[in-house]
Amino acid sequence: MFLNILVIGSGGREHALAWKLSQSASAESVFVAPGNGGTALEPAITNIPIEPMDFDGLIEFAIREQVGLTVVGPEAPLVAGIVDRFHDAGLACLGPSAAAAQLEGSKSFSKQFLVKHGIPTAAYGSFESVRQACDFARTLPLPVVIKADGLAAGKGVLIAQSYEEADQVIAHMLEGDAFGQAGHRVVIEEFLFGEEASFIVIANGHSYLPFATSQDHKALLDGDLGLNTGGMGAYSPAPVVTDAIHARVLSEIIEPTLAGMIADGHPYKGFLYAGLMIEPTGDVKVVEFNCRFGDPETQPVLLRMQSDLVSLCVGAVNNRLDSCTLEFTDAAAVAVVLAAEGYPQAYRKNEEIEGLSLPMASKVFHCGTLLQGTSIKTSGGRVLAVTALGNSVRAAQSQVYEDIQGIQFAGMQYRLDIGYRAIAREKNSAS
Ligand code: AMP
Ligand code: GLY
Repeated sequence: MFLNILVIGSGGREHALAWKLSQSASAESVFVAPGNGGTALEPAITNIPIEPMDFDGLIEFAIREQVGLTVVGPEAPLVAGIVDRFHDAGLACLGPSAAAAQLEGSKSFSKQFLVKHGIPTAAYGSFESVRQACDFARTLPLPVVIKADGLAAGKGVLIAQSYEEADQVIAHMLEGDAFGQAGHRVVIEEFLFGEEASFIVIANGHSYLPFATSQDHKALLDGDLGLNTGGMGAYSPAPVVTDAIHARVLSEIIEPTLAGMIADGHPYKGFLYAGLMIEPTGDVKVVEFNCRFGDPETQPVLLRMQSDLVSLCVGAVNNRLDSCTLEFTDAAAVAVVLAAEGYPQAYRKNEEIEGLSLPMASKVFHCGTLLQGTSIKTSGGRVLAVTALGNSVRAAQSQVYEDIQGIQFAGMQYRLDIGYRAIAREKNSAS
């Protein structure tokens, strides 16, 4: 079997997906629409200038190039129904239908789903009225979590430390237009204490295979301080997910979610990302679902993956996941994001990046870059994800920080503590 493969998206996640797919003996050509500077430099990958929301253009390309497998990176096209459109055109496309992608596309849908199927999550209410939302917030202990209902590119969640702050945030979301359609409904939630982990599976109906666990670092600054971002780094595996917790996640969260989606008439196919809170008691709750792989979790997880990603994706598309395997090296992986000055607010662009051709042990996945002539320029807030393997999280982290010393662009910022929770656990278990 030789397949032409299309990856949709332009970030670090899509660079990592396309890179891993291109290593398969079954991959004939790997295209990325639109891709970035990193995918442009990969010898086995070709960028195609078609945007992820241009479904007609993507379908026309897939038919013309006889694409046998399309893998969708970001959530926006999935929520807008790209998989349904590809299927209508007779094309194999891995991802959930628009109906199933509501697990990410609408927080009120996913909360209702979780409660209906008895899957553990924070107590919540969903409102269109400011007064009702503010009244409900007062029934919860502080702090209170306020979320815009729809997709808000990671900016739709606020944690209010007082009820007055909650009132302001609710009014701003429901009455202002900062969140567009996504903000016309809000979800008010109980704040969960504990440690977060990312748990990603590939699924088709009841069948699934779990990827290695990972943990993201969403805050901009060391020590988890500063503004919330799309993710400043990630590592895998996440030791907070012990074997006992892993078994509970499968039986209390993943399996009931897949069964519930079938029972509700929306069988889930594709990558399913459960953002988890591991509470100090060892109980696990769902913080959110994403209908796609995580970014930057994809980078360390795929660097550790030993199985063939093409066979796995084709297995899921053809409802044959039962006959697939999904294995990872015991080595740990760490990815550190190098971000542009100003990110996650308005950020500096178009800076030349130096040092990318130096020999290094790390794999540099590009997140927001462009190839211009022979130089690579910054084009996004998150610019690069420098990713390495090591015998421990500590060793992988040291390798990444050593390799970052050779990379430079004006205004480059990054965290110096990616992996710190796992490293503290490694120290404790060694002593
Ligand atoms: P979400 O978009 O729902 O993943 O929320 C973004 C981030 O906000 C999460 O990764 C958590 O760090 C935080 N968060 C969301 N909901 C809660 C909650 N109920 N309790 C504590 N933290 C939360
Ligand atoms: N890293 C968090 C996400 O992909 O949503």
